[in-house]
Order: sequence, then structure tokens, then C-alpha cells
Amino acid sequence: MSDDIKSIPQEGENNTMTIFDELYEFGKRRAKQTVWVFSDLQQGKYENAKRCLDTSLEDYEMLGRPADMMWYLGDSTESANFTELTRMAELQIDAFEKLGIPLCYATGNHDYDYPEACHRNNVPFTMPFYDAVREHKNWYTTKSCDETWFKVPFGNFMVYFFCDHVAKDNSWCSTHNWYRYGRENYPYTAEHFAAIRRDMETCGAPNIITASHYGFPGGNRDTAILSLIQPLPLNVRLHLYGHSHIGEYSCPQNRIFSQIQWVDWQDIPQVDVSSFEDIRGSYCRSVMMQVYEDDTLGRFLRNQKQHRIVSAFSPSCNSAERPHGYEAHAKKVNPADILPNP
Ligand SMILES: [Fe+2]
Repeated sequence: MSDDIKSIPQEGENNTMTIFDELYEFGKRRAKQTVWVFSDLQQGKYENAKRCLDTSLEDYEMLGRPADMMWYLGDSTESANFTELTRMAELQIDAFEKLGIPLCYATGNHDYDYPEACHRNNVPFTMPFYDAVREHKNWYTTKSCDETWFKVPFGNFMVYFFCDHVAKDNSWCSTHNWYRYGRENYPYTAEHFAAIRRDMETCGAPNIITASHYGFPGGNRDTAILSLIQPLPLNVRLHLYGHSHIGEYSCPQNRIFSQIQWVDWQDIPQVDVSSFEDIRGSYCRSVMMQVYEDDTLGRFLRNQKQHRIVSAFSPSCNSAERPHGYEAHAKKVNPADILPNP
């Protein structure tokens, strides 16, 4: 073991580094970029949010603040208690500002708990954390709450973030890859999602990563609307998502510990990074993703309470060629089954 590995702070019951910790340290030497990916702090109570966030930030400090960017995949807060969710949003804004690196935010279903309450009571809504990200210099999300996606260049990658969305007048809202209310008013057609795919095909980046609060078909939990973008271009190397808290027994039921799946019908892995909290999920976790000199990727799942890398995975550097007869054999998505106005 090299000296720099031995010098890493050790905590917990077992002071021996696992092979995953060593792989992470080895990868660090070859990584040209590192991204901290996390989701689902989502607490109704400020005290719980603070405890989980403090746990994760302490662990991030122990790692030596290795990230060049943060990708936050939704559910920053939970509940429609405006006072409480505002406190939790401010807690996170303050914490992430202090890290001084860009933050990309893809919203998730619980970010819309308050807009839904406002919809029921016919009063104007705000989204404290989303609004703060949108207005913050060097932080990124959709420019408008009714938009479905945004993209951010990252080295030789283009990163596409798919977001939940709500009408500016709150007449419709889409979460869980479906419709929360106002389905009859939903404006997007199949052409909208085909245009996203065309943008990916023509973006000019040699590699693409996609990220969302949700998985594509084949992933854990809700996947319907994202399926409209398939088939994904062959240079999509990886999809990252949250929402499905690993270790939560209520959902997704028999797949509760599933961390990595493949996008249905395609040679593209998708990684569940959830959750930042340990009340629904089994522990506070996040992913450190390293990008190496040759643009290959290393994904390291971190137990932030135990200060351990608990699993490691590297996607292949090339997707398999589009299987012959994809259209004939892949499970076809019929936009009319998903969209109110296909
Ligand atoms: Fe969620």
C-alpha cells in the first residue's frame, strides 16, 4: 500500500481500507475530473435534513473536497410546509455555496409538494431551492419551471439533465415521469421528445451522460415519460438517477437494493445514486464519479456515515452497435399511451 493511501483518515469499526477504497484512490491519480452526484435529501423536518447533510459534508471534507462539480438529482426538500422547506433550502444553499464549485440541479417530485398545495388553493407558488439555483451564478438548472431539460458541457462530455416540470400558471404539473395534475393541459408532444434526441445526436460532444431524478425503462421505479426519448444515441455512456432510495422497503419493493441496471433494449448502464438521507434509504450515500484521461468513467458509491467506498463500477467505453432490428425487437413505446396529445 502506498504512503498516500495509508495517510487517508480512517474511521468506523474496521480501519482497513476495502478494495473499493483503494480503487477510488488509484483512480484519483488518473482522474482529470471528478463529479459529486447525489439526490434525495428530502426531509419534512429541518433537524433531519441538517443531520443528514452534515453527515455527507463531513465525509466530503474527509475525502479532501475532490469534486469539480456537483450534480444534484432532485428532491432537495419534502412537504408543503413553506416555512420549513424554506429553512431547508437555505441550509443547502449556504452549504453548497461554501464548496465553491458549480452545481447542476434536476428537480424531482418532492420539489413540487408546495406547488401542488398552491394549485389546490389557487394561490401563486414558488420553489425555494429550484429558484435559488436558477438565479445563482455558476449553478445550473432549467431557465424556466415549465422546461423539461437542460444541458451542460463537461470536458469531452455533454451532460443532459431531464427535469420534472410545472406550468408557470400552475395549470399542469409533471412528476414521477407522469402527470401530477392538469394532464389535459400538458403541452408537450412526441415531437418535443424527438427533438431532445436530435439535439443529443447533433450536440457535437464525443460522449454524453444523462441524468435525472428518474431512471429510463429498466431502472428502478417510474420511467414512462423518459421512455419517449429512446432509443438513446450510442454515445450515451451512462445514465445517473435518484428517486428510488436504495434500501427502502416500501418501494421499489423487490428491487430495493438494486444499484445498477441497464437501459432497456440498449447497452447503456444506469446508476441509482439515492439517497442522501438515511431514514427511508438504508444509509446516507452519494456517488463520486471520476472521468479519466481517456474519457472512461469510474463510479464509486460512498457510505458517508462509515466513510467507505462500498462499491465500484466502470461503464464500457463504447456502447454496442445498435442491435440489428432494434425497431422490430425493442418494446415499442406508443406516445399515445403516455401523452395526452401525442
Ligand atoms: Fe423522488
